[in-house]
Amino acid sequence: MLVGCLCGCSSNGSLHSLKEVSIQALYAQKVDSVLKLMTLDEKIGQLNQYTGNFQATGPVVEDTTKIEQIKLGLVGSMLNIKGVKNTRELQEYAMQSRLRIPLLFGLDVIHGLRTIYPIPLGEAASFDLNLMRRTAAGAAKEAAAQGVHWTFAPMMDVSRDARWGRVMEGAGEDTWYGTQAAVARVQGFQGDNLADVHTVMACAKHFAAYGACIAGKDYNTVDMSEQTLHEVYLPPFKAVVEAGVASFMNSFNDINGIPATGNQYIQRQLLKGDWNFNGLTVSDWGSIGEMVAHGYVPDLKGAAESAILAGSDMDMESRAYVGHLKELVEAGKVSEKYIDDAVRRVLLKKFELGLFDDPYRYCNEQREKETVLSEELRNLSREAGVKSIVLLKNEKQALPLSEAPKRIAVVGALADSKVDMRGFWANEGVVEEMVTVREGLASKYPDTSLLYAEGYDLETNELKLQDALRVASQSDVVIVAVGERYFSSGEAKSRADINIPQSHQQLVKELKQTGKKVIVLLMGGRPMIFNEMTPYADAILLTWWLGTEAGNAIADVLAGDYNPSGKLPMSFPLHVGQVPVYYNYKSTGRPESKNKGYTCCYQDIDFEPAYPFGYGLSYTTFEISEPVLSKETYTMGDVVEVTVKVKNTGSYAGKETVQLYIRDLVASITRPVKELRGYEQVLLQPGEEKSVSFKLSMNDLGFYDSQLNFVVEPGNFLVMCGANSKDTKFAKFTLN
Ligand code: GLC
Repeated sequence: MLVGCLCGCSSNGSLHSLKEVSIQALYAQKVDSVLKLMTLDEKIGQLNQYTGNFQATGPVVEDTTKIEQIKLGLVGSMLNIKGVKNTRELQEYAMQSRLRIPLLFGLDVIHGLRTIYPIPLGEAASFDLNLMRRTAAGAAKEAAAQGVHWTFAPMMDVSRDARWGRVMEGAGEDTWYGTQAAVARVQGFQGDNLADVHTVMACAKHFAAYGACIAGKDYNTVDMSEQTLHEVYLPPFKAVVEAGVASFMNSFNDINGIPATGNQYIQRQLLKGDWNFNGLTVSDWGSIGEMVAHGYVPDLKGAAESAILAGSDMDMESRAYVGHLKELVEAGKVSEKYIDDAVRRVLLKKFELGLFDDPYRYCNEQREKETVLSEELRNLSREAGVKSIVLLKNEKQALPLSEAPKRIAVVGALADSKVDMRGFWANEGVVEEMVTVREGLASKYPDTSLLYAEGYDLETNELKLQDALRVASQSDVVIVAVGERYFSSGEAKSRADINIPQSHQQLVKELKQTGKKVIVLLMGGRPMIFNEMTPYADAILLTWWLGTEAGNAIADVLAGDYNPSGKLPMSFPLHVGQVPVYYNYKSTGRPESKNKGYTCCYQDIDFEPAYPFGYGLSYTTFEISEPVLSKETYTMGDVVEVTVKVKNTGSYAGKETVQLYIRDLVASITRPVKELRGYEQVLLQPGEEKSVSFKLSMNDLGFYDSQLNFVVEPGNFLVMCGANSKDTKFAKFTLN
């Protein structure tokens, strides 16, 4: 169940098979054989990464000498290069260099390259780890076919702050689940062997704690106890090292006053020391140079010194290394052994990818043609889409639309917007290839009359009521798309106000006055607030940004061809004033109470989110029993076995995600009121009942104490099971 422990041990131990050890030894020999031929300039060149001009994902420095530098062996990697033709051309330049060391091509394949999958936060709502592996593998296959060796994904920043635009890239607010998702995505991208030409290097980012930026402002300060850093933000990163992730990307933020890029503790002591990471670390775009702006170093030379000593191997777009490392080495400020360590890590990945054997092995135009946007990948995108949708409300079985309505009013410019279906980080997703809601419904209901009205201006959100009311009055059911724009979440997209546009909410309210059934499709890349419209919606489907097959996936769920099974990976706040709001909060000495008084609550609003972590409805209903434990008392080293019964008490077949939470009632560090430690997805026919069993290891009960030791303390625990983090039933046990 748990693939990467949250603790100091490794779930599969640190022993490698004999074969792996001998392969690593062989590679080490090869790496050293190249390293000893390299000049200092050539070594520093391997640590130098430039962007191509396919897409700027950061502030671009105009530089017309990149190709000359590549020919001189002064560039180790390029990012943002698109397609086989371009990567081959640049690789040919690299083959003109003295040592013919191949280039590494990196790209942000965050949720697909040409075939676009649901945004990662949306896919996290599926709670389907195997699906995540498959979409990552699909994205890798397509990226590798287009000459890409390395994706800067998965992003595994735990975040509890919906104001932060980059929540769309991760797996939400929970550390345990985020750890599972991170490992699954790395496994998908990398497969079993980096030499497999259908796989790419993954990149654990952003290291570390980037999602804890104060006030949800992107790039902002991060300040927390080391206990919280280890307990909440580091576990996904530690787990993917054990899973063999090829690279790390450090983050823009400082951590307790030290920028991550220059942070020796997290990079040298933890990552490359305690965790024994043998891959390469790349800075984020310009983050080495940005240590000057942080006020941590006086100039770019100081930045280069700080970063290389801290363990940042490759310099993305700062030009700090290529500009200053040689001088620092020659002045004796930086020992060449640090350069050698970084270069070894870069060369090792190039050997593992097979690039020294054949620099052009990822440049196969025929494979590119066959792979890109294949039917197999489009079907996978559609499957991921239906599994990511979360049913938030369904009054009187408003959904599914089992009988094809004669007339459907499709309202809302988002229902007709191809560009929005892609979401942020849409890379090469061609806008025209995105399926809109209008198109999906037309395919689903070929004999139904679809009446469309914009409802609001897509750019200005200006309400366009008249037409909307007209088509609604002429229809049997109204489907209205509301929410954010695709560019309202993502990098540098933090928002102080996470309400959806007031005009969208007004539109829903007015449409309901027509007396028709109103089905709301809520679109966006983050938890949003939409309290005003909720009472007027008969049903609400959270559809995120689902990518290439968005419209078809939404139509599948509307028609009941797929019974929605998504669960929220992040709490949806009632009010932005609650943020950060999350399910695994601590009791405090004055636990919140509906009676308010002297308790941990607000005077003006409820303390509970609008929708809690793990929440999601179905077209059917389920009943989950009290958890039954194998014993009432356990001793250290035991396995705690938990069983619950789940029954489908409705009239549709459906999948329920039964969640298991624990609580350590008394500990040397106060513990959260709930901690997710497992879930099982159960597909049940109407009336069917199944038993679901969980096994909790001692590590599942542990935490980092004030000395940063991972400990399991004896005492009383609760086990809680339910369909979300709020509505649970519990059992108690004692650990001696
Ligand atoms: C961006 C992002 C990072 C991305 C990199 C390269 O600024 O922070 O996630 O991988 O630059 O595009």
